[in-house]
Amino acid sequence: MEQQTVKLTALSSKGGCGCKIGPADLGQVVRSLPPAKPNPNLLVGLDTSDDAGVYKLNDELAIVQTVDFFTPIVDDPYSFGQIAAANAISDIYAMGGTPLTALNIVAFPITTLDKQILAEIMRGAADKAAEAGVTIVGGHSIDDKEPKFGMAVTGVVHPEQVRTNTGAKLGDKLILTKPIGVGIMTTSLKNNQLSEQEIDRVTKVMSALNRQAAEIMSKYTVHACTDVTGFGLLGHLLEMAKGSKAEFSVHRDRVPVLPRTRELAELGFVPGGTKNNYNHIKADVVFPEELDQLDQWILCDAVTSGGLLIAVAADEAEQLLEQFVHAGIEAALIGEVIGEGQGRIYVS
Ligand code: CO
Ligand code: CO
Ligand code: CO
Repeated sequence: MEQQTVKLTALSSKGGCGCKIGPADLGQVVRSLPPAKPNPNLLVGLDTSDDAGVYKLNDELAIVQTVDFFTPIVDDPYSFGQIAAANAISDIYAMGGTPLTALNIVAFPITTLDKQILAEIMRGAADKAAEAGVTIVGGHSIDDKEPKFGMAVTGVVHPEQVRTNTGAKLGDKLILTKPIGVGIMTTSLKNNQLSEQEIDRVTKVMSALNRQAAEIMSKYTVHACTDVTGFGLLGHLLEMAKGSKAEFSVHRDRVPVLPRTRELAELGFVPGGTKNNYNHIKADVVFPEELDQLDQWILCDAVTSGGLLIAVAADEAEQLLEQFVHAGIEAALIGEVIGEGQGRIYVS
């Protein structure tokens, strides 16, 4: 059967990044809920804005659970499926867990759009899940005007080896394992501003699993870990700084950014989610005077399926970085924990 040609990203009604509800709005909603009854087996829950929930089954075993789905971020359905799966599975790696099973979450205009497109999305997701060693055990689908795809993923972790985003210690080095600029690049893609080569580059960054980075990280003294997604690099750094009651320093020149991100930001392709992120963090981040608004936005750019952000013991940082680079991971040492405090970031 011949596949219908559609610009998938044009089907997103918002035209934005198809990403999360902003941190300010979401925080308000969550805070308005009655507090849940405490459960001693819930090791990581709603209260710490971490990547996934962790629930202890016994002294040796805890389950890690997460869910993520969004509107098409690229036009190629197979790549969209791969990215959505890599993104959903990533939260398990960010918690130090091993992903095991997944459920597909599907919204699709089944009467108006070629079914072959959905088949391609699901084939991409299945291939990515297989690469991660994840078994897809089922799913749920609804007929919806706007296509959406994602996964609920379950993994396991030893209760004492959970990597949260709250344990960074004074002196730790901060390492990021993928370049940023994804939100600006994909907004530019929707607006037909990218070359084939650039589409390929950003697609590869998003569809790369954090599996290998997580495996390498597991052998080091990592005090805190998260993955960079919708709230952007500074948003996730700030969550980590606040959760760790620490102050971070970040060196802008060391943060890997996809080529032409700045140029496309100058042309106006900065997604609304990125600006929301900036507004949410700016009170707790000190920017140097020479850093203009565009550069500040780039550091807050809403990411889909970003890299791991790791706080590692200072004396192991160089070796960890070396091992990442040796494995072909685009990692960089971007900053350090410079003090104790209520959560503040100094950009230099
Ligand atoms: Co995450
Ligand atoms: Co996060
Ligand atoms: Co997530």
